[in-house]
Amino acid sequence: MTLTFIILIACLLASTGAKWSYNGPDGEHNWSSNYPFCGGAFQSPIDFQTHLLRYDSNLPPIQVQNYNLSTNEQLTLSNNGHSVQLSLPSHMYISSLPYKYSAAQLHFHWGSSNQLTGSEHTVNGKQFAGEMHVVHFNSDKYPNISMAVDKHDGLAVLGVFIAIGEFNPAFEKFFKYLNGIKYRDQKIQVPAFNIHALLPSHLDEYYRYDGSLTTPPCYPSVLWTVFRRPVTISQKQFLALATALYASYAQESATVPLHGNYRKPQLADNRVVLVSFKDGLHGILSAASPFQRKQVIQKLLVGDLADLADEGLYQLLPKLSPQSGNDKKLKKTKKQEHWSQATQKQQWLKNKVPSNSGYSLSVGKNTPTPWNMGTFDTGKEMCFVSLEENVMHQLERYHAKGLMVETLKEVVFPELNLRSYLHCRSDLDLQTIRKLIQGRSRDEATELEQSLAEAMLKKMRRQINQHKYPKMEATIGHPQATVPKDFNSALTYNRPQRVEWED
Ligand SMILES: *[C@@H]1O[C@H](CO)[C@@H](O)[C@H](O)[C@H]1NC(C)=O
Ligand SMILES: *[C@@H]1O[C@H](CO)[C@@H](O)[C@H](O)[C@H]1NC(C)=O
Ligand SMILES: *[C@@H]1O[C@H](CO)[C@@H](O)[C@H](O)[C@H]1NC(C)=O
Ligand SMILES: [Zn+2]
Repeated sequence: MTLTFIILIACLLASTGAKWSYNGPDGEHNWSSNYPFCGGAFQSPIDFQTHLLRYDSNLPPIQVQNYNLSTNEQLTLSNNGHSVQLSLPSHMYISSLPYKYSAAQLHFHWGSSNQLTGSEHTVNGKQFAGEMHVVHFNSDKYPNISMAVDKHDGLAVLGVFIAIGEFNPAFEKFFKYLNGIKYRDQKIQVPAFNIHALLPSHLDEYYRYDGSLTTPPCYPSVLWTVFRRPVTISQKQFLALATALYASYAQESATVPLHGNYRKPQLADNRVVLVSFKDGLHGILSAASPFQRKQVIQKLLVGDLADLADEGLYQLLPKLSPQSGNDKKLKKTKKQEHWSQATQKQQWLKNKVPSNSGYSLSVGKNTPTPWNMGTFDTGKEMCFVSLEENVMHQLERYHAKGLMVETLKEVVFPELNLRSYLHCRSDLDLQTIRKLIQGRSRDEATELEQSLAEAMLKKMRRQINQHKYPKMEATIGHPQATVPKDFNSALTYNRPQRVEWED
């Protein structure tokens, strides 16, 4: 009997990937040993610190469809050893995102009976009692959630903070069955109900950012929407959740309680968090509008920056490499920077349209590398950090030359925005870059400001004398250009093994 059980567990592990937990040797500090993405970039959850927030007036209220399920429908309530999960039918979906995201399941993260805090996301360090995740997959692009889970645009999760307060009748619809799934891998069928009643009242107020699954394999595939307002459950309801379940199998003699199942906040990695609300946030910056971003993207996609090659400006474009070098290498190549300009230019001209894969950007690589690597490298993938190095490098190289600022403005800044938006999945804007440079030395910061002003003047003069500069006209043109539909779709993550995932 015991042997059969051990074999069963062994087979289970072999087919679903290595085991992991929230505590002990398989705890989150060690998830990346078996699940490399957990140690990579753009992980979730994060702490929503005020300085990361950018107000975006273009974020519409979240709209969900078919959330009011008929009681004739049955849902599967299960204990997967990491959480309690309720299956959801795929006719439920989010209709207010660029793609249709169909529901798959919802589950919870919570504290314990002696530590009442257990949300994953936090607000300026404040942790709530718990958090609900309603997981959806991009059903416009992928046939099912297994195919979507590792794609950069595969998942959309609605996060709901849970605070202790008033009794919540909607949560009771399935809380009352928890005793039927006390042990790991137990499942029961429960009648469906109105899932909308689990969401908070203000679906128009939320945090939005690009992140990951908060459990192994931690794929950075999630478009996060975390509602600002919590829902409440009573202390009694919370304690029922926190004490009813075990992370261990019914057959195991040593029982392991299932609680405190939250991951700690991850690095922001220079991401910003878009917010749909402005009130209560003093002096919050606004994000670049989608229109501005689109303009930048179009400008780059039509490839007219090639014209700038004649002026030698192509050298300023960040070069692409399979892995950005470590700091030592970077310094070395900075000194020894001596690549063939002809090769560079040729390479660049050949690839006027930015390629669509998730490579990193770096400077000072003297070997031309393929532009389209096709994989997302989790190494030193801090795109923004590489870009920052690039900007600083250019500042050094073209110090005190008007050309430097002009090209920063014309080439590097749009490039920064484009790359970080499309590949690094963050929303940088000029403000961010200014702030970054301000953090350096006074001289550089003031010079940048002065030079930006000068460049602005120059641009105005140029517009007046436009007929003398046909090249610039070409750059400004091409209103018909559009972003190819699958421009950003080739990015997939390495997926070495079939693995279980929940979130
Ligand atoms: C981390 O996990 C690996 C592989 O599962 C294991 O060999 C190692 O002992 C763990 N390390 C720690 C510090 O627990
Ligand atoms: C949900 O649907 C039921 C019928 O299936 C209906 O009685 C109820 O009023 C609906 N609830 C909401 C909030 O629309
Ligand atoms: C998901 O879709 C793929 C491709 O159509 C298919 O091979 C796979 O079996 C499906 N997986 C599940 C769990 O339905
Ligand atoms: Zn989760």
